[in-house]
Amino acid sequence: MHPAPMRTEKTLRPAKPGFTMAHDSMPKTSISADTREKLEQAAAKVMKNAHAPYSNFHVGAAVLLTNGKIFSGCNVENASYGMTNCAERTAIFSAVAELGPKIEIAAVAVTNDHGVACSPCGACRQVIYEFGPDATIFFQGAAGPKQAHITELLPEGFRLK
Ligand code: THU
Repeated sequence: MHPAPMRTEKTLRPAKPGFTMAHDSMPKTSISADTREKLEQAAAKVMKNAHAPYSNFHVGAAVLLTNGKIFSGCNVENASYGMTNCAERTAIFSAVAELGPKIEIAAVAVTNDHGVACSPCGACRQVIYEFGPDATIFFQGAAGPKQAHITELLPEGFRLK
C-alpha cells in the first residue's frame, strides 16, 4: 500500500461553478492622492499624542468615512500590556462615539514614529472590517508605502448577519 499523495495547491480542484469569490480586492471607491495625503497628515499629527511608554512605538491612524469626515487616533498603552488600544481602534471608536454605529469606513491610514513597516494588527483588521468591508488601507510596507483592500489583509472577515 502506498500512502495517498500529498494534496498541494495544484492538485486541488477549482471551486464549483456558482461559488462566489470570497472578495473582490478592487475597492468600489477609489481614494485620490490628495485625500490619502490628508489622511496621512492627520495620522502623523495624532501620533504625537500616543501613550506608548512601554513599547516606545508611537502610532497614529486616521479614518476617512464615506461621508467625508476624518477621525484620528493614537495607540494608548497600559501597564497591564494587554489593555493596550491600537491607534486604528482608537480612531474608529472615536468615530462611533461621535456619530453612532452607522459609520462606514472608506479608508484608513497608519503611520509610526520609527518609519518601519506597520500594517494594522489582526484585531484592528477585524474592527476595520466591521465598519469598512470595502475599505482601503494605507500603511508602511516592508518595501515602502503600500495600499491594500481590507479583504486582502483580512480574508474571510467575520460578520454576524
Ligand atoms: N500598534 C498600533 O497602534 N497599531 C498598529 O498597527 C500596530 C501596533 C501599537 C500597539 C502598541 O502600543 C505598539 O504599537 C507596539 O506594538
